[in-house]
Amino acid sequence: MTTSQAIPRHFLDIRDHSADTLRGMLDDAAKMKRDWKSGRSGPQRAMFEGLVLAMIFQKPSTRTRISFEVAMRDLGGAAIVLHGDELQLGRGETIADTARVLSGFVDAVMIRTADHESVIDLARHASIPVLNGLTDTSHPCQLMADILTFEEARGSVRGQKIAWLGDGNNVAHSWIQAAARFDFELALAIPVGFDPDHEQIQWAKSEGASIKIYRDPEEAVQDSRAVVTDTWISMGDSEADGANRRARFAPYQVTGKIMASAAPDAIFMHCLPAHRGEEVSAEVIDGPASMVFAEAENRLHAQKALIRWCLAGPVAPK
Ligand code: CP
Ligand code: NVA
Repeated sequence: MTTSQAIPRHFLDIRDHSADTLRGMLDDAAKMKRDWKSGRSGPQRAMFEGLVLAMIFQKPSTRTRISFEVAMRDLGGAAIVLHGDELQLGRGETIADTARVLSGFVDAVMIRTADHESVIDLARHASIPVLNGLTDTSHPCQLMADILTFEEARGSVRGQKIAWLGDGNNVAHSWIQAAARFDFELALAIPVGFDPDHEQIQWAKSEGASIKIYRDPEEAVQDSRAVVTDTWISMGDSEADGANRRARFAPYQVTGKIMASAAPDAIFMHCLPAHRGEEVSAEVIDGPASMVFAEAENRLHAQKALIRWCLAGPVAPK
């Protein structure tokens, strides 16, 4: 079954949505997770009956692909995986035409690609919801799972301090946006030359967020309830520059010493995939403070809530 919305509900960035809307999605994710875990998931199985999600991947994925696909199956729908190089998109068909064609076949589309503008373009020309499954600019679906994970472990994130160590990359941008919407303090320890986009920080500060960039990781993590990091070499970053990046980021590795400088009950978070001995030591990621596998599992529950929200707008039959 395909449906279309008069005004599709897209999920392209955390900052596009109000704090209340995002909180509603998290509440829905937590409820669906509870029901699923306690075996009270029967009613969920028909939620997406007949609905189809297309997923375009122009970069690799393990968690995003599997969590979206399982979310659709769990709720009675189906997912189609489309690899960028197999689509006519890879041979010059426009994003606009791809958006119009997909809108005739499926009910929503998730896309993972490098260029953020092309995701906005896809949404502009689609009559179905578009979800951002990661761009070079942001990774909003990840952040919904991350906030869910933090709150399961340590209660409301509001007013808490969270420290990010390493690269000012796509995931860092979504943490910055989340700091504004979920009202927590974000301390980023980042080497000179790898700062997040200035515009992202300016936007978050203009929304009242408490965001500070440090050069000293031990100073940044003081009193933080979570220490977060990500790969030093993201998909699309040049491996040719790998040795330089590893040398520059080495002082920002999350080690036992770094965790000892954070709050006594600080948790460790990482969106994965991780590189032990680079951005995080094995003792930390495999130790008791690590929440990384809960975080990965929560992608499933967050994804269900995001898809539900996207499809909950006014729906008109095609
Ligand atoms: N964290 C995350 O998005 O993982 P994948 O790249 O495996 O989807
Ligand atoms: N920053 C990483 C996140 C992977 C989920 C990347 O873009 O490769």
